[in-house]
Amino acid sequence: MVSKRKRPDRDRFTLKEVLKFGSSSIDERTAASLKKLFGIGIISSIHFQIASGKEADIYLAQNGSRVKDEVVLLKIFRMETSSFGKREDYIRGDMRFSGKGTDVNKLIDIWCRKEYGNLKIAEEAGVMAPRPYYANGNVLAMEFIGENGIPSPRLKDMKSEHPERIMEMIFESMRKLGSYGLVHGDMSEYNVLVKNNAPYIIDFGQAVRIDHPRAKEFLERDVHNIATFFRKRYGILNDESSEITKVLEAADKGNAT
Ligand SMILES: Nc1ncnc2c1ncn2[C@@H]1O[C@H](COP(=O)(O)OP(=O)(O)O)[C@@H](O)[C@H]1O
Ligand SMILES: [Mg+2]
Repeated sequence: MVSKRKRPDRDRFTLKEVLKFGSSSIDERTAASLKKLFGIGIISSIHFQIASGKEADIYLAQNGSRVKDEVVLLKIFRMETSSFGKREDYIRGDMRFSGKGTDVNKLIDIWCRKEYGNLKIAEEAGVMAPRPYYANGNVLAMEFIGENGIPSPRLKDMKSEHPERIMEMIFESMRKLGSYGLVHGDMSEYNVLVKNNAPYIIDFGQAVRIDHPRAKEFLERDVHNIATFFRKRYGILNDESSEITKVLEAADKGNAT
């Protein structure tokens, strides 16, 4: 018999379960953000950490009642401030984020919501990228790109049989994004996962609107990174300036039909 006094309170139990993960990223604020995701049926449990990125820890979670896919990927932005100087460059000059305050917690929330919003645009544009489920605080829930709990390899970590096709699909994704007014801004072999011979673009936090003062510079760098990778790894030659032009043309035309 468990006395009433000792019976664990449901909410506190959930919070403790979450905190048990003991990773540096699971602080109280993160736990509170996660609790909401449990509460509204996005996730029902957390399995394990799959990666630790430069600004976020990545976890695999079990779906909740509101998500069809069996697993959910959680990107948990770390609370540390060190890399925020760089991030401010992207937020500043983006009209969507003017006048929102600058304290670090708020910046992280904005950053997280920004990645969510960018993934939504990618989805609308028909770009192969994880579908976003929900963003709360510093936690972003999205579609898991992988199989049986194993994330698909990054472009960098695999050898493709059809590199030309994959490259063309990446440039096509960039044009589609462009037609929806978005430039990824951190495109490279590190931020493309390859599943069933198709490239999925990830890591949309720093993506900017095409009217951002540095959008063209970011676009040129994106194209250059991809072109350089396929040249060095697969010996494929590219006309970078023509690829850039095609994205800019797509952006000019817009998504109006
Ligand atoms: N939707 C996803 N599905 C599967 N793996 C993912 C997904 N998103 C991220 N990852 C894994 O986590 C790593 C870091 O994610 P990323 O969004 O690139 O974070 P960072 O901004 O820290 O680079 C990726 O390289 C990839 O291995
Ligand atoms: Mg990344």
